[in-house]
Amino acid sequence: MKRFAIAVDGPAGSGKSTVAKAVARKLGIIYVDTGAMYRTVALHCRQKGIAWEQEAEVAAALDSLEMKIVPEEGGQKIFLNDVDVTTEVRSAEIGKGASAVAAYPKVRERMVELQQEMAKVNSVIMDGRDIGTVVLPDAEVKVYLDAGVEERARRRVGELEAKGETADFEEIKKMIIQRDYNDMNREHSPLKKADDAISLDSTSMTVEEVEQAILDIVHERV
Ligand code: DC
Repeated sequence: MKRFAIAVDGPAGSGKSTVAKAVARKLGIIYVDTGAMYRTVALHCRQKGIAWEQEAEVAAALDSLEMKIVPEEGGQKIFLNDVDVTTEVRSAEIGKGASAVAAYPKVRERMVELQQEMAKVNSVIMDGRDIGTVVLPDAEVKVYLDAGVEERARRRVGELEAKGETADFEEIKKMIIQRDYNDMNREHSPLKKADDAISLDSTSMTVEEVEQAILDIVHERV
C-alpha cells in the first residue's frame, strides 16, 4: 500500500492519543505523539533552570537538546539527550510548560521539521494541535477530535489517578480551559480545525467507536 498520513488534532483530553495509538496498532503504522515533543522541550528547560516564559533563552536551549523518537508497537518512546523521558513528560506541570514553549516560532520550526521527516519515510498517524493545518497539510485523512470540557477533565483526572497522582477535578478543569485558551489564541500555528478535517465529538463515544469512525474514513480514502 502507498504511504499515507492521518492527522488528528484537538484540545487537551479529547482522546487523541488513546485513539491514535489504537488506530496505529490496527493499521500497523507509526504513531507520533507530537505533544510529547513540546513536553520534552519544556522538561529540558526546567532541567537547565530556564523559565518557560523566557522566549530567547528557551530558543537558545534548543542547541543543547537532542530529541529522539523511537516508535514502538502502538506507541512511542521519547529520549532527551539519550535519557528516556517518556513517563516523566506526562505530568500536568510539564503539560503547562509545553503549552508555553509551544507558542515560540523557533521551537515550532524545529519540532515541525522533525515531524515532517518522520512522515516522509513512514505511514503515520500523528496527533497534536497543528498537524492538519501546518505539519501535514496534504494528509489523506484529517480528523478534529473534540469533547466537552467536563468530560475531558474527568478523563485527565482518571489518567492521573491511575498513575497514583492526586488530582482535583476543579483544578484540572481550570488548567484544561487555560491550556486550550493558550493553544487556540497563540499567534503561531494555533489549534484550529483544518478546513478539510472531519469533526468528531467524543463526549459520549467510547474509544472503540471513535477508533471505528476513523478507520471507516481511512478505508474510504486510502
Ligand atoms: O497533547 P499534549 O497535552 O501532550 O500537548 C502538550 C502541549 O503542547 C499543548 O498544550 C500544546 C502543545 N502542542 C502544540 O502546540 N502542537 C502540537 N502539535 C502538539 C502539542
